[in-house]
Amino acid sequence: MLVLGIETSCDETGAALYDSASGLLAQALYSQISLHDEYGGVVPELASRDHIRRLLPLVSEVLCQARLRLQDLDAIAYTRGPGLAGALLVGASVATALAMGLAIPAVGIHHLEGHLLSPLLASNPPSFPFVALLVSGGHTQIMKAIEVGRYELLGDTLDDAAGEAFDKTAKLLGLPYPGGAALAKLAESGSASRFRLPRPMMDSKNLDFSFSGLKTAVAMACAGVNLDDQARADIAASFQEAVVDVLVAKCVNAMDLTCMNTLVVAGGVGANAALRSALDAAGAGNAFSVHYPAIEYCTDNGAMIALAGALRMTSCAQTNLHRDFNSRPRWDLADQ
Ligand code: KG4
Ligand code: ZN
Repeated sequence: MLVLGIETSCDETGAALYDSASGLLAQALYSQISLHDEYGGVVPELASRDHIRRLLPLVSEVLCQARLRLQDLDAIAYTRGPGLAGALLVGASVATALAMGLAIPAVGIHHLEGHLLSPLLASNPPSFPFVALLVSGGHTQIMKAIEVGRYELLGDTLDDAAGEAFDKTAKLLGLPYPGGAALAKLAESGSASRFRLPRPMMDSKNLDFSFSGLKTAVAMACAGVNLDDQARADIAASFQEAVVDVLVAKCVNAMDLTCMNTLVVAGGVGANAALRSALDAAGAGNAFSVHYPAIEYCTDNGAMIALAGALRMTSCAQTNLHRDFNSRPRWDLADQ
């Protein structure tokens, strides 16, 4: 089964081709980061308009890379939600129009399901069931993934997402949006012991998170020192260590509570090297294996949507097939 995947939920336009028999055949991505740079965050209307400009050329590009034609497709998967309403509508309308013209199904995919399944694109994929840590710009969740399409929410953030906390802290340190990767780079030259930042909810009995207080603690640390290059690097390292400590502690608790031995990490913050090495160490010490997508598939992309579409079409009774312009800007992954 050959599936075209389309991702337009936020500020990245992605297209990819995934074949159930031979895997990922092609993928192309256009990042709007420079478009939103001067505003310090994503401007929804600009995002929608740019998706309109970029999407069809990206679809042509992946077909050309794989030497295939639209007529070869068996289904089109698109991100149905959650995300920016206008941006989602661009992907939904292009996907459903193309699918209708080709008389093939259009499959609406939950963006976080795409992230959650993205480690299956790797050469050593995890098998179900597993626990998933989803850490993106908009979400921080721990899910139990029983099989494709069956997910249970175990923990969620009460306020900011981990990626959002990285981005807001990066802004306080004068780094451009989105600041996660830049903050991680800055942290490499800093000392995590100079500023003792809180570990919010680390000792709570549940698997929920809270990151907004950490951002406030960073703002206070910035205000209390001469913010030279070394102080910025030290704050970045201290902040990163606090987030990593909380995420790792909650994952270890989740593995204990579920008695599972496979952890999957996905979403943009999953690209963070400090988080990866701390989780690897926790996995080695607590007898669970940890799986990540390749760095390029941690942040938003079309490949994870094409993969999720192919898996839903082949191995799952519940698919979201639509012939209308259907998007769900707010949508729980457990509510399929
Ligand atoms: O999954 P994603 O592309 O978008 C959403 O679905 O939200 O994640 C983007 C987030 C941003 O907040 C970005 O700053 C963060 O992932 N991020 C990182 C790193 N690379 C991206 N955070 C920490 N360390 C990184 N290396
Ligand atoms: Zn995402």
